[in-house]
Amino acid sequence: MAPIEGFSKLTKEEKIDWISDRYTDNSKETKATIKRYWNTDKELQKLHDEFIENTITNFYLPLGIAPNFLINDKLYAIPMAIEESSVVAAASKAAKFWLHRGGFKTKVLGTEKIGQVHFMYQGDCRKLERFFQFVKPKLIQDTSSITKNMEKRGGGITNIQLRDKSKDLKDYYQLHCTFETLDAMGANFINSCLEQLAQTWKAEALEYAEFSGEEKHIEVVMSILSNYVPNCLVRAEVSCPIQDLQEGEDISPLEFAEKMVRAVNIAKVEPFRAVTHNKGIMNGVDAVVLATGNDFRAVEAGIHAYAAKDGQYTSLTHASIDHGRFSFWIEIPLALGTVGGLTSLHPLAKMALDILDRPSAKELMQLVAVAGLAQNFAAVRSLVTTGIQQGHMKMHLMNILNQLQATEAEKNTLVSHFKKHTVTHSAVVEAIQKIRKG
Ligand code: MEV
Repeated sequence: MAPIEGFSKLTKEEKIDWISDRYTDNSKETKATIKRYWNTDKELQKLHDEFIENTITNFYLPLGIAPNFLINDKLYAIPMAIEESSVVAAASKAAKFWLHRGGFKTKVLGTEKIGQVHFMYQGDCRKLERFFQFVKPKLIQDTSSITKNMEKRGGGITNIQLRDKSKDLKDYYQLHCTFETLDAMGANFINSCLEQLAQTWKAEALEYAEFSGEEKHIEVVMSILSNYVPNCLVRAEVSCPIQDLQEGEDISPLEFAEKMVRAVNIAKVEPFRAVTHNKGIMNGVDAVVLATGNDFRAVEAGIHAYAAKDGQYTSLTHASIDHGRFSFWIEIPLALGTVGGLTSLHPLAKMALDILDRPSAKELMQLVAVAGLAQNFAAVRSLVTTGIQQGHMKMHLMNILNQLQATEAEKNTLVSHFKKHTVTHSAVVEAIQKIRKG
């Protein structure tokens, strides 16, 4: 197949023809599928078309609601965008469990964002330090047109440091900058500031009297925010007297608490378990991050880096039994926004934020951390008691039935049948075949 020039310049219809005719066996069916997902509201479709380049259709994810989250004594219903069948159910179950046990308590521990100008300098590092001190006021001054509005609201560049990294990589240095971006996630703000800093830094070096020869020619390699934000941190916790953990007769509250602590401790020392343990946390985190129009890739990258900050990948949640109390908590970095980006542009993101009572970025950090903690509590609770498959397969039943093209009547019969029987793929196939054979 030949490569194509100017694909982005084709009309939407031409793009669809091109991709369907060349890359699929049944072009007609591909075109029909693509168009089935177009929105009939032309204005809304145009909005979505313009989010990215080369849009041909929309990719839907279910948006669910997990109600009954008591967070710092306020009740929330949390919107979650996710495809995995058991996630919203698990979050709702955890929310209900803690609703009558004091709810979730949260605290933002920091909101610092980070960006760096990475550059190469060949020369005397003491001279570079003197140049930095000399040019620092000008660096700040030259960004003023970018930072003016943010500063009015109390944010902006909070610090610039010169960092010598030449021991790690020959001639490599950075301007390591910190930012307060308030309710904005801040990526565009930070990157614009950094590019201006880089320009001033390079231009001033050429003029700096103390520099000679190569020293004048600073090579800026790149200027970019960091998605690792260990000081943009939030904590969420649940806690109750051990005797309040009683649920059913199968397991004593103390035994349950001990099993929970042991499971978390395993995730603390064993990376193979920690990754899956944290994946469960991200089921909750990503779903709310996505529903509110935030950048889940940034959040994922930052959180996993944080999980490895001490040199070994480990659990993001912690559990303890102390003086008869069970506590379970999470500490994660979250760079989120509730203004700018998709948050006000995507009608569903805007609606999700409305449902959450229009939170500030700090409030949203707390809600997202709670969703992660709730999800982890639900998963570990199942793992140490019934096992994960019982609940998971119950929720997955509908997917299997849809795969088997079950009718509504078949679905009703089988959903009630599998209330009393274990769901496995083969058990569902067998049961549906039995109905169909009469
Ligand atoms: C599945 O999406 C998430 C779990 O594997 C998380 C965990 O094992 O803790 C159930």
